[in-house]
Amino acid sequence: MEVIIRPSTEAAVDLAARLLANHIQKKPNIVLGLATGRTMETLYDKLAAWHSEGKLDFSLARSFNLDEYAGMAPEDKNSYRHYMNSRLFSKVNIDPRNTHIPIGNAPDLDAECARYEQTIRDCGGIDVQLLGLGEIGHIGFNEPLSSLASRTRQKALTPHTIAQNSPLFDDPETMPKRAITMGIGTILESRHVIMVVTGKKKAEILAAAVEGPITSMISASALQLHPKCIIIADEEAAAELKGHKYYRWIFANEPEWAPYR
Ligand code: GLP
Repeated sequence: MEVIIRPSTEAAVDLAARLLANHIQKKPNIVLGLATGRTMETLYDKLAAWHSEGKLDFSLARSFNLDEYAGMAPEDKNSYRHYMNSRLFSKVNIDPRNTHIPIGNAPDLDAECARYEQTIRDCGGIDVQLLGLGEIGHIGFNEPLSSLASRTRQKALTPHTIAQNSPLFDDPETMPKRAITMGIGTILESRHVIMVVTGKKKAEILAAAVEGPITSMISASALQLHPKCIIIADEEAAAELKGHKYYRWIFANEPEWAPYR
């Protein structure tokens, strides 16, 4: 695991976007693992801008999103399908048939979860998984006590997550209380992970996830098991990290980071 601290939210998001763009340029038929949430909005703006400047080609790329609300139709404007279509897919040249998000209103949600896992396998697995961090420490919608070996499945959302996300709904009461999410086992199988964490609300949980013990109470702590995981935090989110001097030294001195300094 490498932790990179950037001076601002903008700089953290910019670094994550550049790393992702670099992966796409190196492997045009990349399988992307994508995330939603407020943190990703500006990151997708950057990818879309680089595409319109002719710097990024998504024509061969494939994508799998982490999660979707259970019971929600893809056309619903609160769905993660709608989020992805409007914020990224409609702005770049990815083939819509190559974009995968669990279908929240599939008639049999367990079968939908199994189909999703199989489709990821059929595409050869995820090359780069982008992650945000929930205030409760979740990745995707892997709420506390999610098995570290879990696969794509339905999960009941905690009151904390409902409180965090319901303001994004016109009527907060209509936010679904369940979701379909890739499991922690699914996420750990991706070849690379880039997690972006910003803002002071995430400082305590980020420190617990990165520097604390691995525990199913904080699903992001499972990333300690991932061989190629980069966590990019802004100063506010990094405020509780005990090892911050070491992390800063790595970014400032290790040759692999020179192009990004
Ligand atoms: C939701 C998503 C997560 C995301 C999290 C963080 O709960 N299911 O995948 O990481 O939000 O959201 P935000 O970036 O808005 O803080």
